[in-house]
Amino acid sequence: MSNVEYSKGLEGVIAAESRICKVDGENGKLYYEGYSIDDLVEHCNFEEVTYLLLYGELPNEGEFSSFQSHMRASRDLSEPIRRMIQEFPNENHPMELLQSVVAYLSGYVEHKIQHSAHCNCRDTLHQVVQLSTVVAAYERYKTGHGYIRPSKSLSHGSNFLFMLTGAEPGELEGRIMDDCLILHAEHGFNASTFTARVVASTISTCYSAISAAIGALFGSLHGGANEKVMAMVDEIGEPSNAAGWVNRTLDEKRKVMGMGHRVYKAKDPRAVIMENYLYQLSEKHGDFRYYEILKEVERAFRDRMEEKGKPIYPNVDFFSGAVYRLLGIPTRLFTPIFAMARASGWLAHVLEQREDNRIYRPKALYVGERDKTVIPIEQR
Ligand SMILES: CC(C)(COP(=O)(O)OP(=O)(O)OC[C@H]1O[C@@H](n2cnc3c(N)ncnc32)[C@H](O)[C@@H]1OP(=O)(O)O)[C@@H](O)C(=O)NCCC(=O)NCCS
Repeated sequence: MSNVEYSKGLEGVIAAESRICKVDGENGKLYYEGYSIDDLVEHCNFEEVTYLLLYGELPNEGEFSSFQSHMRASRDLSEPIRRMIQEFPNENHPMELLQSVVAYLSGYVEHKIQHSAHCNCRDTLHQVVQLSTVVAAYERYKTGHGYIRPSKSLSHGSNFLFMLTGAEPGELEGRIMDDCLILHAEHGFNASTFTARVVASTISTCYSAISAAIGALFGSLHGGANEKVMAMVDEIGEPSNAAGWVNRTLDEKRKVMGMGHRVYKAKDPRAVIMENYLYQLSEKHGDFRYYEILKEVERAFRDRMEEKGKPIYPNVDFFSGAVYRLLGIPTRLFTPIFAMARASGWLAHVLEQREDNRIYRPKALYVGERDKTVIPIEQR
């Protein structure tokens, strides 16, 4: 192992084999289990994609029907969890709530298998399914409303909007919400997924692994850029202010949120799909203000970057915040929605880690002192 080089943040280090996700940064393509994200969004719903991630292949009709009924049967929250949400301190962030609830949900793991490499998580699926109910219930309670029981006849995305508002969403809104979940379900060995795999590698439960992953996603370097994009849109106010705002921001050496990506060197394929959804929703609302501001920001930013020979494109967060806002979702739920979607990918990675497990144990490059002598406390 002496030929392994130090790489800060593990950049470029290959830590495991995985068949789940391929991010082709050069060509701006994303694949889950070999299927392109464009194809999945066109032909599948989030539940089907969850099956794909957990079982490695798309289901046939019979398999899908039983998996879907199973997922839908797990949607409702038990009374203790609803109480937990109601009693959650008002000033805390909903990501902290999600983390605690998932840890609490570990009560669903059968006791005898709790600390084994195999558990019944593919059967219960609570940690994937119930996150959306928790997020919706949190918002209902926070705004002084009551809990809305999930519907079993709606897709995962439509049901989320239904639990949030009490009204069944339109066909367009429901489909876009479900597709947004597909687009965020998986993205390779990012920080939260790696966290889930590290925890799984100790033969801890899938609930502990997902709870830890939520903690990693909470950090502002990982989740949350779409919240900042919407703050930018609000500050810009009108499309005609966008170019000036971008120029000032870049002159002050500040980052334009939602632009650039560590892996994609072409336009993020999820951003292409999100942009189209934003257009469709803007058309339905008869209001293109967010769309036009974002397109002006993109144009001004790309012009400045191309002058410097840096082709930098929008990432998934650039359009997603505006899409959520037009779906009537408050900003504080943007990162929890990311977690709701990514839970499928995290669980897929936990299961894959267990197939051929070895505990993660990297080394640190020691830069401290050596051979120091302890001076007794009274002489220090
Ligand atoms: C995502 C991100 C962290 C990737 O950073 P990275 O891997 O260092 O990006 P690159 O190596 O491609 O950056 C190349 C150059 O472009 C600049 N750049 C990259 N993204 C930029 C942005 N959004 N705004 C302004 N400048 C940017 C970098 O500062 C760097 O400049 P330098 O060569 O003068 O140092 C970065 O693009 C960023 O902070 N984006 C905004 C936040 C965001 O949207 N995050 C969500 C990611 S899904």
